[in-house]
Amino acid sequence: MLDLFADAEPWQEPLAPGAAILRRFALSRAAALLEAIDDVAAASPFRHMVTPGGYTMSVAMTNCGQLGWATNARGYLYASVDPMTGTPWPPMPDVFQTLCRDASAAAGYADFRPDACLVNRYAPGAKLSLHQDKDEPDLRAPIVSVSLGLPAVFQFGGLHRNDPLKRLMLEHGDVVVWGGESRLFYHGIQPLKPGVHPQTGEYRYNLTFRQASYSE
Ligand code: SIN
Ligand code: FE2
Repeated sequence: MLDLFADAEPWQEPLAPGAAILRRFALSRAAALLEAIDDVAAASPFRHMVTPGGYTMSVAMTNCGQLGWATNARGYLYASVDPMTGTPWPPMPDVFQTLCRDASAAAGYADFRPDACLVNRYAPGAKLSLHQDKDEPDLRAPIVSVSLGLPAVFQFGGLHRNDPLKRLMLEHGDVVVWGGESRLFYHGIQPLKPGVHPQTGEYRYNLTFRQASYSE
């Protein structure tokens, strides 16, 4: 299929107060990001975490950076050690850090220094139910979320679970940034449709950058 946007410059679409979609912002760096995902997963493999309620998540996850998001029987937590390997999460690759810094600055968050990056891998049918990112103690820092590979439908609502939802297709190279007024807005990913992407095969990947510790 002819891709009219293949050579287009990235462009921004407002999403909500404090939130924007940076279309194709990561496109030119996608190959390097995907290679770095492989390196991260070689050290801390993708796994299906089990929620405190006993539900096995359909999205496979790993982390890099000083802190990684994980589940245990009591709840959700950030930990410096990967519970699967017993060793620290792999460091955040330079290409991740640079992209996150550039994207957050482009969206108006100049000083975002993430210490955690959750790496999500979606196979066909995998989804992320509507949720808030609220396990971080310092809500002044935004969320930076990078989409790679197969497209997926992103839902973005408001502060309350039953607020109206916007539904947007997130494609290879798109970056969503939300913070400020929309930092705690509900969001989710609808079940991934099967497909084949030239750079990721049957998968969609997502990188979610967060500041998971409190800094003065
Ligand atoms: C998330 O909310 O943690 C991930 C969103 C996405 O996969 O785009
Ligand atoms: Fe989230």
